Amino acid sequence: MSSNYIGIFDSGLGGLTAVKELMHLLPNEPIVYFGDTGRVPYGSKSNDTIIKYTKSDIRFLNTFDLKLIVIACGTASTIALRSVEGMVDVPVFGVVGAAAKAAVAATENKRIGIIGTAGSIRSGAYERLIAEIDESIFTISKPCPLFVPLVENGFTTGEIAQLAAKHYLTEMKEAGVDTLIMGCTHYPLLAETIGGVMGHHVTLIDPGRVTAGFVKDYLEQNGLLCTGKADGQYQFFVSDCPDDFAELGSKFLQQEIPGGVEKIDIE
Ligand code: SIN
Repeated sequence: MSSNYIGIFDSGLGGLTAVKELMHLLPNEPIVYFGDTGRVPYGSKSNDTIIKYTKSDIRFLNTFDLKLIVIACGTASTIALRSVEGMVDVPVFGVVGAAAKAAVAATENKRIGIIGTAGSIRSGAYERLIAEIDESIFTISKPCPLFVPLVENGFTTGEIAQLAAKHYLTEMKEAGVDTLIMGCTHYPLLAETIGGVMGHHVTLIDPGRVTAGFVKDYLEQNGLLCTGKADGQYQFFVSDCPDDFAELGSKFLQQEIPGGVEKIDIE
C-alpha cells in the first residue's frame, strides 16, 4: 500500500471538478487538495502575481509525500507552468494540454471556442497548443471574468448565471463553433447554463475531467497506481473560509468533503 498523494491545487473550488473525476476514476488514490480561497481569483491578477501564488501553492503541496502535482487552475496552468518546471522532484501537470487535445479530437467542423479568465485568454496558450496539433483549426476566445465569482458564490444556474452566459457566449455561438473549451476549472460547474446557451450540438470540454483521464493513463503507464486504500486518503486545505468551502464544495463533489477542510496560512 502506497501513501503517495496526488497533489492538486486551484485558486478555489474549481479544481474540485478534477478531484471528483479522479475519485471516480482512481478510487484508491490518496489526494491532497489546496484551494487558495484567500487569494481567489487568480484570473484578474498580473502574470508575476499568478506565478508567485503558483509557486507558494506548490511549495505547500510539496510538504506531502507526492507522486505528482496537478495544477487544476486554468490561469495558473496557462501562465505559470513553465516557471515552476524543476521546482519539485515530481511531475507537474497543468489542465491546458489535455483540454486542447480533447478539443481537437472532438471538433468536426474545425471551429473551437475557448473561454477562460482574463489571464488565461491573454496567455494565448490554448490557441498555441491547438495550432501545434492542427494549424487549420479556427479558434475564437473570450475572457469571462464574471463566471468565477458566480461559481464561488453558488450562482451556477438561474437568471443571473444565464444573463452572464448569454453576454459572454453569443459571439461564440454566432461564430459557429462545435466545440467549446471551458478553459477554467470553475466553468464546468456552470455547464448546464453554458450548454443551454451554446446548444446541445456543441461539445463542452471540461479541463478537470480530461486531465483526470490523463493522470490515470500516466499512473497506469508508469506503474504508479495505488493498490489499496491508505489512511487519511483525502486531505483538503484552503487559505480562507473553510466552512464556506466545505458547504459549497460538498455540493460540487455530491458528498461531504471527506476528512473535512483545514485552513492554512499560505503567505
Ligand atoms: C480564477 O481564479 O480566476 C480562476 C481559476 C482558473 O482559471 O481555473
